[in-house]
Amino acid sequence: MSKLQDKVAVITGGVSGIGAATARLFASEGAKLVLVDFNEEKGAAFEAELKSEGYEVVFVKADVTSEEDVKNIYETALKTFGKVDILFNNAGIGAVKPTEELTYAEWRRTVEVDLDGVFLVAQGAIKEFLKAGSGVIVNTASMYGWVGSPGSAAYNAAKAGVINLTRSLGLEYATRNIRVNALCPGFIETPILGETDRDYLTNATPMKRLGKAEEMAKAVLFMASDDSSFMTGNSLVVDGGYTAQ
Ligand SMILES: NC(=O)c1ccc[n+]([C@@H]2O[C@H](COP(=O)([O-])OP(=O)(O)OC[C@H]3O[C@@H](n4cnc5c(N)ncnc54)[C@H](O)[C@@H]3O)[C@@H](O)[C@H]2O)c1
Repeated sequence: MSKLQDKVAVITGGVSGIGAATARLFASEGAKLVLVDFNEEKGAAFEAELKSEGYEVVFVKADVTSEEDVKNIYETALKTFGKVDILFNNAGIGAVKPTEELTYAEWRRTVEVDLDGVFLVAQGAIKEFLKAGSGVIVNTASMYGWVGSPGSAAYNAAKAGVINLTRSLGLEYATRNIRVNALCPGFIETPILGETDRDYLTNATPMKRLGKAEEMAKAVLFMASDDSSFMTGNSLVVDGGYTAQ
């Protein structure tokens, strides 16, 4: 029996890296997908690819920091599939720069996407889930929400915010059949890593390799499905041992 049969899942950042791997796994488990991203070109291509494989998918171009765009995500989901059951709230950007060189605009944009955007999209889902009487949210935080690291203060602060937002929403809706948990990845081979030295990241990881997007997708599936039915307000760290050090 498929784990997400006939569930409708909204996935932000759903056309690249961890979001795209999760989209594939969710589809293979029977879910219908609302893929959200501001990268229209990648979005249209991935939507066409999944449709050609027989999956039910709609792509919505949206910036998760725009209230209007976020409203449109849920309007499109309801118009296309009639409901929303799951949100994988995963869009994010990195900002690696020494703090003395970081502009206030760069700080603000990082926190805007990585924390404000997570709030806005979660709020939209919660409104629908309250009407429907149930729902599940998985936010993407980071192991850097648990530990500090030099050179990415804005990102780390925003991701720590996502972890406590997750706890707070988990508690707020615990009796209303809405579960909220977070994924905290370690170093995962996706485009967000950019030019970062892979040898450095590999050596810093106790398992001496980078994680794969598909390995994150399995953890997300656990949190999005009934397999985690007694879990809320929690954060699952999947980092090859980094934060155990
Ligand atoms: N890869 C890692 O090592 C790692 C580690 C910890 C956490 N994460 C988190 O995982 C999540 C997914 O990242 P990824 O590694 O798959 O990288 P990625 O760059 O492949 O995917 C991120 C996606 O988010 C989209 N996006 C960015 N800003 C957006 C916005 N304002 N509105 C809509 N879409 C937007 C991008 O276009 C992209 O498709 C992010 O939240 C990231 O911070 C990644």
